[in-house]
Amino acid sequence: TGMFTYDPGFTSTASCESKITYIDGDEGVLLHRGYPIEQLAEKGDFLEVCYLLLYGELPTAAQKKDFDYRVTHHTMVHEQMSKFFSGYRRDAHPMAVMVGTVGALSAFYHDSTDITDPHQRMVASLRMIAKMPTIAAMAYKYHIGQPFVYPKNDLDYASNFLRMCFAVPCEEYKVNPVLARAMDRIFILHADHEQNASTSTVRLAGSSGANPFACIAAGIACLWGPAHGGANEAALNMLMEIGTVDRIPEYIARAKDKNDPFRLMGFGHRVYKNYDPRAKIMQQTMYEVLKATGHSDDPLMQVALELEKIALNDEYFKEKKLYPNVDFYSGITLRALGFPTTMFTVLFALARTVGWIAQWNEMIEDPQQRIGRPRQLYTGAPKRDYVPVSKR
Ligand code: CMC
Repeated sequence: TGMFTYDPGFTSTASCESKITYIDGDEGVLLHRGYPIEQLAEKGDFLEVCYLLLYGELPTAAQKKDFDYRVTHHTMVHEQMSKFFSGYRRDAHPMAVMVGTVGALSAFYHDSTDITDPHQRMVASLRMIAKMPTIAAMAYKYHIGQPFVYPKNDLDYASNFLRMCFAVPCEEYKVNPVLARAMDRIFILHADHEQNASTSTVRLAGSSGANPFACIAAGIACLWGPAHGGANEAALNMLMEIGTVDRIPEYIARAKDKNDPFRLMGFGHRVYKNYDPRAKIMQQTMYEVLKATGHSDDPLMQVALELEKIALNDEYFKEKKLYPNVDFYSGITLRALGFPTTMFTVLFALARTVGWIAQWNEMIEDPQQRIGRPRQLYTGAPKRDYVPVSKR
């Protein structure tokens, strides 16, 4: 059994070469195509970051205009898709709806499933980036029993999404530009993060030649778990459970107790052994959104800030290098934007779609790419003979 390197959780196995995202976990650095996340989040917009991830360079003004136009004009989904939604139980978790409906896109867009054709690959890529907000908003509307809202082409990506989520036919809806900008920045923060579990899932699924819609559905399924994209939902649930600052020590003690499975959600990271740079920007975005929505005195924010302070000064967290990650402050922010916790991971999936797609394209174009096929260390029974059921 000594033939293979045993590496559970792939902590020391590079599964691919990639030019998309660089992380220095010890220093807390995140670069997309060489550009620091702080600069992209502050100065860029999400579609610009999408272009950067897909094509490797920031777009010129003409390229940006063309890209924005193309994405905008792919936002509608086939009308039959709405019937697909109504097949779900009305209380279905929106992530369950996302896994199914995004996978179903491969049955609607046959003309972009030939992965050997670069043009079809690009059409599929644009379709997914464009349709994900529409599908996510439909999952939300279905979940709360409101009618679907169609996309509106004169709005930018984030504003369009907020409108599809929060507009109702009986009222005028005007997008608050501060909130749209915050939404856009949250999308930027989640756009890509190199070979995390869901991205590796997309690559592995894609390595067999499966169509891109099916691969992204696999990524969404993986993202759902509480150790990954589900952590934003779990983090807010935890803050609500703690409720008040005086109860923090009890939860810190539980997180440190080896006999208690409880972990501080939104804390710790496989790669970052320093402050997650996305968490800092998310914290800033949280302040902006709470201010714009009149929730600057949100008691959960007090709990989060105090929890962070106590944990960062605690020997256990210091020794294990556990810092807040992107999900620690996103929950409070998304709640203030008006989303229920069940939508949090959906928003992550929406934003991460571009990263998955860029990584998938890079893999397809990589001449070294082969089907992903990990090996194992077999620890089961040795060869033995079958015994008829009457003799067992
Ligand atoms: N609270 C308390 N202890 C922790 C935590 C935490 N949040 N995270 C890690 N530890 C401890 C863990 O018990 C272990 O201790 P020991 O070495 O004594 O057994 C040590 O730190 C290392 O943890 P690990 O589970 O071996 O590390 P990992 O790299 O396998 O897991 C992680 C990384 C993110 C899954 C983990 O830190 C965790 O469960 N965090 C909470 C969930 C979370 O916030 N996830 C979001 C990650 S960022 C966004 C995303 O990827 O979607």
